[in-house]
Amino acid sequence: MKQLMILVYFCYLLTCSLTGTFAESKECKPFEWQCKSGQCISLDVKCDGIADCADQSDESSEFCLDTYCPNYTFKCAYGACVSGNAKCNGIKECYDGSDESKDFCDGNINYGMSSRSKETSFKIRSPRQAKAGPCRVTLGANMIISTKADPSFTFDDGDFLGDLANIKYSCTSGYSIFGRKENICFRGSWAYPQPKCIITCPNSVIQGITFRVTCSYNRTTISCEDAIRPGTVVTATCALGYMKPDGIALVDTLSCGANGEWDSIPHSCVPICGQQTTEEFSSALMDVTRVPWHVAIYQRSNRGVRFTCGGTIITSKIIITAAHCVSLKRTDPTKYIVLLGKNYIEYSAKEKLETQEFNVSEIHIPRGYLGENAYYYNDIAVLVLNEFIRYQSHIKPVCVEWRSHAKKDPPPDTLGKVAGWGRVSSNVSFSNELRAITLPVIDTNECIKKIPPEYEPFVNADKFCVGSPEGAGAPCQGDSGAGFLVAKDIDGIPTYFLEGVVSTSLSRDHCSSKSFVAFSNIQYHELMIREIEGNVTPK
Ligand SMILES: *[C@@H]1O[C@H](CO)[C@@H](O)[C@H](O)[C@H]1NC(C)=O
Ligand SMILES: *[C@@H]1O[C@H](CO)[C@@H](O)[C@H](O)[C@H]1NC(C)=O
Ligand SMILES: *[C@@H]1O[C@H](CO)[C@@H](O)[C@H](O)[C@H]1NC(C)=O
Ligand SMILES: *[C@@H]1O[C@H](CO)[C@@H](O)[C@H](O)[C@H]1NC(C)=O
Repeated sequence: MKQLMILVYFCYLLTCSLTGTFAESKECKPFEWQCKSGQCISLDVKCDGIADCADQSDESSEFCLDTYCPNYTFKCAYGACVSGNAKCNGIKECYDGSDESKDFCDGNINYGMSSRSKETSFKIRSPRQAKAGPCRVTLGANMIISTKADPSFTFDDGDFLGDLANIKYSCTSGYSIFGRKENICFRGSWAYPQPKCIITCPNSVIQGITFRVTCSYNRTTISCEDAIRPGTVVTATCALGYMKPDGIALVDTLSCGANGEWDSIPHSCVPICGQQTTEEFSSALMDVTRVPWHVAIYQRSNRGVRFTCGGTIITSKIIITAAHCVSLKRTDPTKYIVLLGKNYIEYSAKEKLETQEFNVSEIHIPRGYLGENAYYYNDIAVLVLNEFIRYQSHIKPVCVEWRSHAKKDPPPDTLGKVAGWGRVSSNVSFSNELRAITLPVIDTNECIKKIPPEYEPFVNADKFCVGSPEGAGAPCQGDSGAGFLVAKDIDGIPTYFLEGVVSTSLSRDHCSSKSFVAFSNIQYHELMIREIEGNVTPK
């Protein structure tokens, strides 16, 4: 028996002709076939169009019908495989002459499994032939059965498929397959049990980045990615970094009904913004945890990836930075990479906390931005990331409070936090680690009085002025694009709001303390930012 199994397997690989009678050929040698009369012939001449048994049983439909014919051959009406050119070529190659039969060549009947046509190589429609070998296609409710290779090539209920035909099951819209998705015809029956098409509730309803779901069916936890059948119960909770919106009666559990519809939908949760990381990271409390919305922007070039600027997360897809950081290749967002959760400036530095990397899919810069030619008026840019950010305790958005009809500049003496990798001493270009300093807003008129007259034009309509008193440190090259973050007490929790973006430093003695910095005021760009936000709101 063991030897027989090996032979069967070996033959299977060679796609040689096998029939159920092989098992009975006890007296013949391996690779021989026993004719009905008992005579032994070579296995490879069985069902080849030429009778080798004295009783001609090797060329009869009884033993040939379920023979698998490779696609380069022609299948005779009784099942034998002959040359692919045999069809109606004037030479009788099938033992029964079916390759030259008048009805067949005139197109009146179609029994062949010609190599040329996909249709005939799979389908045998004649019930007469179906008796022995082929498998019958049974379409379950809402089911589609196709070839494995081509889902558009489908079968009808009652079709017969030849030995070793592979099929694939799928379902009509709204239904999903439960069970094995593929099957193979093997010696007249399907190798696996037929699956079922069951009505399912759409997964899209329970997918969102602002909430998390767990799914259970029949009291067992199942993957929410799988097809969801009626009776499945889903529990939704807000994802990390999100909370339930106020004033909305939240439905936290929903279930998939018998009609394939959800009984409710999970509410989107709203992001928790502006809160510093409270978790203690045992290794070191790094500055990225104090400014979890601060990001590093890098530029790709032939020479590699180079640090360019800082930026601030305001929503799960939007980063605010300075226009001068991204305007060199302003039409090409693919030049930039954004890294979140960075403490070290080096793109590939090993970090203690997990980082997230994004490509930029859009860069928006106000139309009126003309760079230095217009004294960096409108020096602000909105980057849209290619994917949604997954908030973590050290990767979060800052808050933004639009003051559409109120005074736009933060009041003088307001303290704001500014973070970055800017230069720390005159002989190095950048700081290796992220640092944050706190600086006060200076009244614009006072600022203009104190700065050299040639810098006055830089404090233009969309700017506010920030001072860097002696000893405080100062934003410098490398800090461009960083946010000015003002803390407010919200329900006892210090909560940070983005007010501006580092544009230019206003001092003869570049980057020293006792100087002034012009920040682009985001309030002047409310319309642009809100419009972009509206287009990329997560669920
Ligand atoms: C026959 O099938 C093989 C593999 O299944 C495929 O590569 C080949 O193109 C087919 N030939 C014809 C003539 O259909
Ligand atoms: C539910 O689970 C029980 C026990 O595990 C099982 O016997 C039953 O068949 C399952 N019902 C369905 C509908 O799957
Ligand atoms: C960014 O784009 C590059 C090039 O298209 C791609 O190889 C890379 O996987 C993308 N990275 C991310 C984080 O999407
Ligand atoms: C930078 O200068 C300081 C003192 O001026 C010196 O101690 C330090 O080693 C220098 N660093 C580098 C990287 O040259």
